[in-house]
Amino acid sequence: MRLERRSVTGVEQVGPYTLLRVDVGGLDAGAPGQFFMLEAPGRLLPRPMSVCLAEAGELAFLIDPIGPGTHALCSLERGEELHVLGPLGNGFELDLERPLLVGGGIGIAPLPFLSERLGGPPAILGFRSDWHAEAAALVPNAEVCVEPVYVTELLPEDPGDVLACGPEPMLVALRARVPDAQLAWEAPMACGYGACYGCAVEIDGELKRLCVEGPVLTAREDLVAVSN
Ligand SMILES: Cc1cc2nc3c(=O)[nH]c(=O)nc-3n(C[C@H](O)[C@H](O)[C@H](O)COP(=O)(O)OP(=O)(O)OC[C@H]3O[C@@H](n4cnc5c(N)ncnc54)[C@H](O)[C@@H]3O)c2cc1C
Ligand code: FES
Repeated sequence: MRLERRSVTGVEQVGPYTLLRVDVGGLDAGAPGQFFMLEAPGRLLPRPMSVCLAEAGELAFLIDPIGPGTHALCSLERGEELHVLGPLGNGFELDLERPLLVGGGIGIAPLPFLSERLGGPPAILGFRSDWHAEAAALVPNAEVCVEPVYVTELLPEDPGDVLACGPEPMLVALRARVPDAQLAWEAPMACGYGACYGCAVEIDGELKRLCVEGPVLTAREDLVAVSN
């Protein structure tokens, strides 16, 4: 884990999302599913973002502008600088026979990097509109559905080794269908490295920090959100 001040090398629109590229400098991209804390200009706390792409001397983050921190990040321009801390948390286990990537909405953010590391396995992606589904172009070999069709409806009977990231209802539905799935969960995070307990969740009946124990857990691990 390192903290570096890095430059923005590119900002692209992908449907409603922004792909923010920063030069990697001395940072290690880590493993797919790990995340970085990005300084959000004008905000006190950094925001956690998954690595979307790690190539050509850059790290790229796919960001959904849903609030003040993500809006500030999406407003950055080429040449501006921000503090970047990471890689943080546990990534996906990659030693698998039949990987199948499953993503919903902005939950597809870690999948391009994951797909690249796994050699382009099949993927099933779900979005709320055709506009949001433009982000599917970042993930090779993807079958795409738009609401009211959900990713669980496209899941084959024997889905193989599922690796998923998406909204909580999608992860809960997958957990019920695929007990061995690897699921990337989210919780609001203040520090990202285990110091503040802001991301505490109940895992198998014990209070744990999702930034340290996760964000990737197996479906067999019983996670219950707790209010801080
Ligand atoms: C490990 C991890 C990786 C992430 N990767 C990405 C990514 O690649 N791309 C991306 O766009 N977003 C990602 N997120 C979510 C992103 O960090 C939040 O959307 C962002 O911090 C919101 O900040 P804000 O100031 O824009 O909005 P806020 O005003 O902080 O939040 C807006 C609303 O979203 C809720 N919220 C905020 N953060 C979370 C959260 N983590 N879980 C559930 N609800 C939340 C708030 O309670 C509020 O209702 C990730 C989160 C985690 C924990
Ligand atoms: S975000 Fe601070 S302990 Fe997890």
